[in-house]
Amino acid sequence: VSAARHGIEQTPIPGLLVVSLPVLGDNRGWFKENWQREKLISLGLPDFGPVQNNISFNAKAGTTRGIHAEPWDKYVSVAAGRIFGAWVDLRDGPAFGQRFCMELGPDKAVFVPRGVGNGFQTLEPVTVYSYLVNDHWNARAQEEYVYLNAGDESAAIPWPIPLAEAELSEKDLHHPRLPSVLPMKPRRILVLGADGQVGRALRQALPEAEFAARTDFDLTSEESYRSRDWSGYRAIINAAAYTHVDGAESSEGRRLAWQLNATAVSRLASAAAEHRLTLIHLSSDYVFDGSQEPHAEAEPPSPLGVYGQSKAAGDAAAATAPKHYIVRTSWVVGDGTNFVRTMAGLAARNVSPSVVADQRGRLTFTRDLACGILHLLESGAAYGTYNLTNSGPVASWAEVAAEIYRLLGKDPQQVTPVSTAEYLASRPAAPRPARSALDLTKIEAAGFSPPTAFAALRDYLATDPVCGPLAAGRHPLTISGGPAQ
Ligand SMILES: NC(=O)c1ccc[n+]([C@@H]2O[C@H](COP(=O)([O-])OP(=O)(O)OC[C@H]3O[C@@H](n4cnc5c(N)ncnc54)[C@H](OP(=O)(O)O)[C@@H]3O)[C@@H](O)[C@H]2O)c1
Repeated sequence: VSAARHGIEQTPIPGLLVVSLPVLGDNRGWFKENWQREKLISLGLPDFGPVQNNISFNAKAGTTRGIHAEPWDKYVSVAAGRIFGAWVDLRDGPAFGQRFCMELGPDKAVFVPRGVGNGFQTLEPVTVYSYLVNDHWNARAQEEYVYLNAGDESAAIPWPIPLAEAELSEKDLHHPRLPSVLPMKPRRILVLGADGQVGRALRQALPEAEFAARTDFDLTSEESYRSRDWSGYRAIINAAAYTHVDGAESSEGRRLAWQLNATAVSRLASAAAEHRLTLIHLSSDYVFDGSQEPHAEAEPPSPLGVYGQSKAAGDAAAATAPKHYIVRTSWVVGDGTNFVRTMAGLAARNVSPSVVADQRGRLTFTRDLACGILHLLESGAAYGTYNLTNSGPVASWAEVAAEIYRLLGKDPQQVTPVSTAEYLASRPAAPRPARSALDLTKIEAAGFSPPTAFAALRDYLATDPVCGPLAAGRHPLTISGGPAQ
């Protein structure tokens, strides 16, 4: 008796799924849709992208194979005969050692996530066991296999035919017991552009990730993509960019900006698609002309300058990766040269600056940006584009500067508001959006509420290694009243 339609059930092992398959019989035998991507995905099976089909033929009942955890996902089924299947979670984590067993005939399949140990015993002669995997077998990958002895006492698998009477390979007889098993490590996150302002903050937020600066992974070099073993990753965060807004207007800068911000992102997106990786790509308020406030994610790009144009092209390229988060941010402040450090330095030297008052937006502190990126990655938020900046009132650069002066105990009136035209009168500069504030409704609905920009500014001034010493002991940073906003 088989199911009337395809179905999926959970098991006690996270991600290990039992699939019911309709088997249609007649006078000739039977037929089944063993793997039907569209139906199974709609039922909740991961779109795991099989690339290889393996079959083992087992002549005798009692043939026992396993237990092997492999560094890829598997979709296990039976074409003829019957098996007793046993699965033990061998991934690093709280479910390590968790067991699940069931009998499998042609009417069932099991989806086995990477790192879950898989074994079976044939219950009938002439059993044909078939499985799809989502990576090509290779000798290097075999070094990552994790094995468990089929007779392990703590897993205590109730093999229907005692192992002493079963047919096992010599190798399978000698696998370790659970206490000696080294769990399979999870796939890692690769952070590119790891020495930039955002990259440095991600080092704090994601200590387990792998960080690649330009010397480790040059996004503009084809060799970087070709020589990388992508099978060890689950996600790429691209924090690399050509960020020299004015430099991008020069003939050399234009080429560099497009090469890194657009063409390389397209190459990265194709690597992400090919290896089923999630791509998190950083984007910018500069993809907009600044005629609206705030900018929602769905607003069509309207970049003014070369940097914004190259970033907008990068967004379109990143969106071709099936699993992508495009994270649009603005006015980034972290560990690097930035507006807040500059103003804090001027305040400390008692300089009275002229600051642009007709560009409005919100600061984004890299600590909060990194937390938001982590939230998107770990919460299972729907793929797509998300605005991610600090929250609170929208302010001009001059208002932000005045707040920095106030927080450092200086007179905010020392900051003179000027127009962009006045400020840039004496030097060539790229056009900039007048309104940079990004609408945060979508990221908040996804469960992440960034702190207000001014609260984060106060915190940054007190703790940043460059600003901190300037702020130390200063009224009103040391008093309880919050910043004016
Ligand atoms: N800063 C802002 O105000 C702001 C605002 C909105 C959006 N964003 C976006 O946020 C992201 C991160 O910006 P950020 O402020 O952290 O920029 P950043 O400090 O300028 O860092 C960019 C990093 O990219 C690296 N890089 C340059 N060329 C590379 C290449 N060919 N291969 C690999 N890495 C390369 C740089 O390395 P080198 O040090 O070796 O050059 C640098 O470490 C970017 O996508 C940017 O567009 C920034």
